[in-house]
Amino acid sequence: MKKGISLLLLSLLFISPGCKQTKEVVNEYNIVPLPNQMTPQQGRFELSKKVKVVTATCTPQVKAIADSLIERLSLTSGIRIQQTDQAKQDTPAITFVTREGMLPEGYQLSVTPSNIVITASQPNGFFYAVQTLYQLLPPAVYGSTKQKSAEWSIPAVEIEDAPRFAYRGLMLDVSRHFSELDYIYKFIDQLAIHKMNTFHWHLTDDQGWRIEIKKYPKLTEIGSKRKETLIDYYYTNWPQQFDGKEHGGYYTQEQIKAVVAYAASKYITVIPEIEMPGHALAAIASYPELSCTPDTTYDVTGTWGVFDEVYCPNEKTFAFLEGVLDEVVELFPSSYIHIGGDECPKTAWKSCAHCQNLIKELGLKDDTTPNVADGKKHTKEEKLQSYVITRMEKYLNGKGRNIIGWDEILEGGLAPNATVMSWRGVEGGMAAAKAGHNAIMTPNPYVYLDHYQEDPEIAPVTIGGYNTLKKTYSYNPVPDDADELVKKHIIGIQGNIWNEYIQNNDRRDYQTFPRAIAIAETGWTENRNKDWKNFCHRMVEEFKRLDVMNVKACRNFFDVNINTHVSDSTGQLNVMLETFYPDAEIRYTLDGSEPTKQSELYTQPFALKGHIDLKAAAFNKDVRLGIISHKPLYGNMISGKHFTTTPAMGWATGDIVDENDVLGKDTTTMGLTNGKRGNKASYTPWTSFRMSDTCRELEFIVNLDKPTQISKVVFGSLFNPAFRILPAASASIEVSANGKQYREIATASFTRELPKDGRKAYTDSLTFEPTEATFVKLKIKNGGILRNGIDCRKDTPEETIQADLYIDEVEIY
Ligand code: ACM
Ligand code: ZN
Repeated sequence: MKKGISLLLLSLLFISPGCKQTKEVVNEYNIVPLPNQMTPQQGRFELSKKVKVVTATCTPQVKAIADSLIERLSLTSGIRIQQTDQAKQDTPAITFVTREGMLPEGYQLSVTPSNIVITASQPNGFFYAVQTLYQLLPPAVYGSTKQKSAEWSIPAVEIEDAPRFAYRGLMLDVSRHFSELDYIYKFIDQLAIHKMNTFHWHLTDDQGWRIEIKKYPKLTEIGSKRKETLIDYYYTNWPQQFDGKEHGGYYTQEQIKAVVAYAASKYITVIPEIEMPGHALAAIASYPELSCTPDTTYDVTGTWGVFDEVYCPNEKTFAFLEGVLDEVVELFPSSYIHIGGDECPKTAWKSCAHCQNLIKELGLKDDTTPNVADGKKHTKEEKLQSYVITRMEKYLNGKGRNIIGWDEILEGGLAPNATVMSWRGVEGGMAAAKAGHNAIMTPNPYVYLDHYQEDPEIAPVTIGGYNTLKKTYSYNPVPDDADELVKKHIIGIQGNIWNEYIQNNDRRDYQTFPRAIAIAETGWTENRNKDWKNFCHRMVEEFKRLDVMNVKACRNFFDVNINTHVSDSTGQLNVMLETFYPDAEIRYTLDGSEPTKQSELYTQPFALKGHIDLKAAAFNKDVRLGIISHKPLYGNMISGKHFTTTPAMGWATGDIVDENDVLGKDTTTMGLTNGKRGNKASYTPWTSFRMSDTCRELEFIVNLDKPTQISKVVFGSLFNPAFRILPAASASIEVSANGKQYREIATASFTRELPKDGRKAYTDSLTFEPTEATFVKLKIKNGGILRNGIDCRKDTPEETIQADLYIDEVEIY
């Protein structure tokens, strides 16, 4: 295989038959996902009217695949090849051969200058061989119009291929924002092209019920519509602001049948997700009797999150869920039905007489020792959830189906035949596998495609998080040294596209691609054959295909990512520029001017010295590839230095931390000394500190290593009351020679004209007479109190709360 990869680009002299002149052709093999065995060969197979397609020994299903190949080639190249039962000896042919005993979904593809032979045992193997064949042709093969005077040929190659994992999927959430059917079809096409075999359709949630259920018409009459939708990020404004526009949509059963059939024609199984017992507000708004407080009126919500209004596990609810599933199983022939199971608060159950009686009847008790499945102690209400899941599992088993659930279904004891989707990291999947259950890995953050994939300052608003294409690609669901049970029971990988902040098709494309293609490769290609650089090489051609298919992928691949990183050898803070575009030149400037092909060439990380207004772009053969990336960086005496804080950092620890595993381990360059100041675009670069009545001040201490003259300290703090954050009220500087006795040398209070709402970054400085210091202590007082539930979301009972501090960066001069 390694040999195959090294021969990926095969230059040769090629004499085109029919043409007198000799022309140089470079054979390229830009196949994604990468085939598991591929040996490039010399020469090319010419497509022409003379080519015959031979399917004599094939089933009708395989003949249909051959027909679709003929149609696509005819549509895009204008070359109409013909089917025949038997090709003549000297006729160039594409022959489909059925051979028993090949690996599931596997195929062989042999291309020589005179013939193409596709061999497989099953139709899906033939289908994947044809997908590979398309990727050996020009990107225009994915179009819908004929190329003028197309002269197409296919590079010779020997491929023997089969997937690493049996389950390779993407989940699309159509509840938070409804996807019109045309997008669903486009999405399925993309899955198929990239050899994925599962479309997980998240059809119900708090924000909309999207599947027609004939027995319960109110689910779509009421549950498919909400009166308005949240504007901006969840915590931008408090009270939250809404757009005042009705949002709705659902799929009729006829439409669903058509989608399922279309997907099946592309060897994709559609797995519906009907959420229970949480994320049920749209259903409860339609039928309040399904809740613990049936006399309440509920609305389908237009905001995001986890809601206390969940199904009450009474007999009416079970009859309802069974009625829904009766119709669902008729529409979806998949062996799995996904029943959710995630994020179900137990608040309502705790105060519901029925739920508490049921707990008693069932003899459920809070755990006193950890549960064997996940090593955790579970409450009796969590066990009631397990009762709901297990009971629904039995019901579906009775209909010949198995369930999949999110990893919370491990809580309170796992339903016996359940397959677990591990989303809260990898632990749930590992625990399930070790307990002998199948698991599908969909871990946050690697395959959460709703996260940022490029600098939030230039990206559309997302739910948060940060995982680049490189990080998504780096994920390996089953490490080589994994437990045997893990190797056996982890059956695949899936990317999740949650749609809270994805309002339209362009946004869906942008969040999904190209990262979904990295996931497709992880699902298909053996880990030993995966190679990030090689993937990037192939992605250049892949982007051309995406363009032809009008997929509006994120184009960060063509840009420069600006990172800072502490050098292991020198301890200094370096600026690291990176582009994913292979062999591109990175050109940069430090003075804010536009980089051109004459600008400084980036060759290796360089030390951050002083303030720079960094602009960088990637160039290929003197042509700029993407946008100009821009980041002012603030080198100072403590750039890249370790520091300590009291209290400790909270959930947000600075922008590069999530990328550590792909940039190389760096636990020192946390947000506060990484040279980048926070901004108002997102929380990603900020470092958070929880404040309370007993802790209203942050203390930051840094060791300068030797007596040093200092005269200024600069720091940034964030205003965002909706997220219980106010900028600093005051600050002081203390210095010390030994780190024990400190003396105060400067204080400052900050008066600010604060905006009413939203997010704003402040930079403050304290300037003082030059002073010698070895240790510097910066104390920052929080911005005061917030009215809990008025200025911000009420998560705790108090009337007022101390505002948190979000700090970035701390600089000393
Ligand atoms: C999930 O992301 N709540 C499964
Ligand atoms: Zn109840």
